[in-house]
Amino acid sequence: MSGTVEQLRVELGNRGYDILVGPGLVATAGTHLLPLMRRKQAIIVTDEIVGRTHLRPLVESLDMAGIAHHEIILPPGEGTKDLAHFGRLVDDVLACNIERGTMLVALGGGVVGDICGFAAATLLRGIDFVQIPTTLLAQVDSSVGGKTAINATAGKNLLGAFYQPRLVLADSDTLATLPRRELLAGYAETVKYGLIADAGFFDWLDVEGRKVCDLDPTSVNRAVITSCRMKAEIVAQDERETGDTRALLNFGHTFGHALEAETGFGDALLHGEAVALGMVLAFDFAVRQGICTGQDATRVRRHIARMALPTELGALGLAGKPEALLAHMGKDKKVRDGRITLILPRRIGDAYVARDASWADLRAFLADAA
Ligand SMILES: NC(=O)c1ccc[n+]([C@@H]2O[C@H](COP(=O)([O-])OP(=O)(O)OC[C@H]3O[C@@H](n4cnc5c(N)ncnc54)[C@H](O)[C@@H]3O)[C@@H](O)[C@H]2O)c1
Ligand SMILES: [Zn+2]
Repeated sequence: MSGTVEQLRVELGNRGYDILVGPGLVATAGTHLLPLMRRKQAIIVTDEIVGRTHLRPLVESLDMAGIAHHEIILPPGEGTKDLAHFGRLVDDVLACNIERGTMLVALGGGVVGDICGFAAATLLRGIDFVQIPTTLLAQVDSSVGGKTAINATAGKNLLGAFYQPRLVLADSDTLATLPRRELLAGYAETVKYGLIADAGFFDWLDVEGRKVCDLDPTSVNRAVITSCRMKAEIVAQDERETGDTRALLNFGHTFGHALEAETGFGDALLHGEAVALGMVLAFDFAVRQGICTGQDATRVRRHIARMALPTELGALGLAGKPEALLAHMGKDKKVRDGRITLILPRRIGDAYVARDASWADLRAFLADAA
């Protein structure tokens, strides 16, 4: 893929770091890593699918830069983000005779990034790590911001740490091998940035979204850069989600998590697909509450449908079944004193944290939603 590499910065003082976005970054990773390395040793963690195509150029570039390396290859999929795999991963890393100056390199989607980041946070009480995200979701969301986690029996992402990478290399070339369904799911998170805080970006996506998903180099770079810039700004303001700023990134996610839980966190509904439908539901609920206009909700629904992402509960067999979804929402971290916190839109490009949503209103809304 052609195009130029752009550089952004996550401003977090001495934990700040660069995000590079553009083509050719895996093949040149060695030169980007070298200045950050206290010891010229890297442990690359990837999964079997990503490893097949993207490991070799990375290894070659580390060789060229004179960086010693080991590779650890995990099975693909969400099932890898558990304690058993985590235990094996840290044992395998420790078997490489690491020191604090060793660099862990996460090459893959959000699964590899999350487990590898958590390993980096805990190994020797913290070793350096670099994210090389290879899914659109990981490039626009999970690789930036320092949330790392694995899943526990009690639920998703319950064991983790805030731990920032030293560098993020979002290589647009890697997206060429990503299945279209995964690409579209990641695209939903891109739309989220427009909907919560940048109406102009949504307007642009509404016109150019298809080009982004067809991997037109200029369009995909602009989508990733705009998303990363927004995430970087939000993280710089509210690194640990103690205020309302970072919480805005949960837009579409409270509905989305309930949908994922109800459909079994698997292939039936990918995370980004659940977020897409969750965003449509958040707009429709806001219209019903008199917070947002129907025109905006219709625009969002049309865009998401045009991008072949889900917009209807009925397609999942969940129309007219509010109880199942409400039960999952009741377990959400964001429930307090019987009131649920939702991120709701006032209009496209302007979302806020609503702490006063009532269960009765939600039940009535979900009972009627098609
Ligand atoms: N830390 C955060 O802030 C954060 C934010 C959002 C999501 N997440 C986590 O991210 C995970 C989901 O990430 P994901 O959607 O990237 O899933 P993933 O890592 O499972 O990747 C999806 C699939 O695509 C394959 N793949 C990855 N890159 C590829 C490429 N370039 N070519 C071909 N195949 C490729 C993978 O092997 C996998 O089968 C979840 O566990 C979620 O909890 C974390
Ligand atoms: Zn998400």
